[in-house]
Amino acid sequence: MNYRIPVIPGDGIGPEIVAEGQKVLEAAADKHGFSIDWVSFDLGAEHYLQTGELVSEETLKELSRYRAIYLGAIGDPRVKPGVLEKGVLLSMRFYFDQYVNLRPVKLLEGVWTPLKDKGPKDIDFMVVRENTEDFYIGIGSRARSGKSRAEFEVRRTLYNIKFGLDIESDSEEIGFQIGEVSKEGCTRVIKYAFDLAMKRRKQVSSVDKANVLSDIYGFWREVFLDVSRAYPEVKHDFNFVDAITMWFVKNPEWFDVVVAPNMFGDIITDLGAMIQGGLGLAPGANLNPEGTSMFEPIHGSAPKYKGQNKVNPVATIWAGAMLLEHLGQSRASEEVVAAIERNLFEARIKTYDLGGSSTTSEVGTEIARLVRAL
Ligand code: IPM
Ligand code: MN
Repeated sequence: MNYRIPVIPGDGIGPEIVAEGQKVLEAAADKHGFSIDWVSFDLGAEHYLQTGELVSEETLKELSRYRAIYLGAIGDPRVKPGVLEKGVLLSMRFYFDQYVNLRPVKLLEGVWTPLKDKGPKDIDFMVVRENTEDFYIGIGSRARSGKSRAEFEVRRTLYNIKFGLDIESDSEEIGFQIGEVSKEGCTRVIKYAFDLAMKRRKQVSSVDKANVLSDIYGFWREVFLDVSRAYPEVKHDFNFVDAITMWFVKNPEWFDVVVAPNMFGDIITDLGAMIQGGLGLAPGANLNPEGTSMFEPIHGSAPKYKGQNKVNPVATIWAGAMLLEHLGQSRASEEVVAAIERNLFEARIKTYDLGGSSTTSEVGTEIARLVRAL
């Protein structure tokens, strides 16, 4: 069996960490009797600065022929904040309709957590973050005092929406942003969360702010309740986003599957990363179960460390394990995670963020060795 997998190393530390992920995935492939051909795509800051292009329709079409993309990181201080993030990363998430952003929050054996008296048994849940809607749709603007009009459009695989807005304001200037969630969009991601819970400890926690942003998140809550009726075996609960940050710290063992709208999901998964040992250990998968998915560490491009062979490649290697799982190579995937866990447990070869002094490539080589040895 041979897989062709597009790889986008991207910006900053992206190329260094992805190289280690490739090393480990190749070791797992060797061992399990399949092979991988990497198809490299040059996207990100360099490409943008040289050509003025973020990502072309042609590249997106080409990428959409594959089931899984391996991504390093996007973002570079030479480009205005948001341009690459929105123009490349979010563009791909939306174009491929990767409506689930799946982020495991799992403390592996041997990893230090800042939560006192909590261990691997207490910190083991999945965040299912909606990945195409909410305040991420890019609808907003600024308006100076007086009268003005603004027209917006949201184009999605599921639907198209037009907003027309008459503005009359006597403030010197305002900035505004419109968020939107749809019945179809909420239903599919919440269903995904319940299906996932059926394979785990059968509990789903919803995140919202229905007490204040009641139109958008009250609607989310209503859809959640509708979906929950089809899963009588699964327990559910509702959490305001501010409160759930508190519970993640105080009682992480309460959670099994947490499902959240896009922006809250973004915020709470950085907190999740910290309780599982740091951003260097937190992987993510952008999933379209019927289309093209994309696997990446949840940390960014960390330009400060670019080219130093210093940062932790574990999040990216773990994202690679999620990619293997997605392709149906479950045993290879489990072994990659087991090798990561062994490496962390032995605590000999580790990067600076974990108190070590090993390089990015030493950690990748060691995890690849462990995959072969397991
Ligand atoms: C993430 C990142 C992105 C997001 C940014 C870079 C657009 O923070 O993957 O969590 O907000 O989704
Ligand atoms: Mn984020």
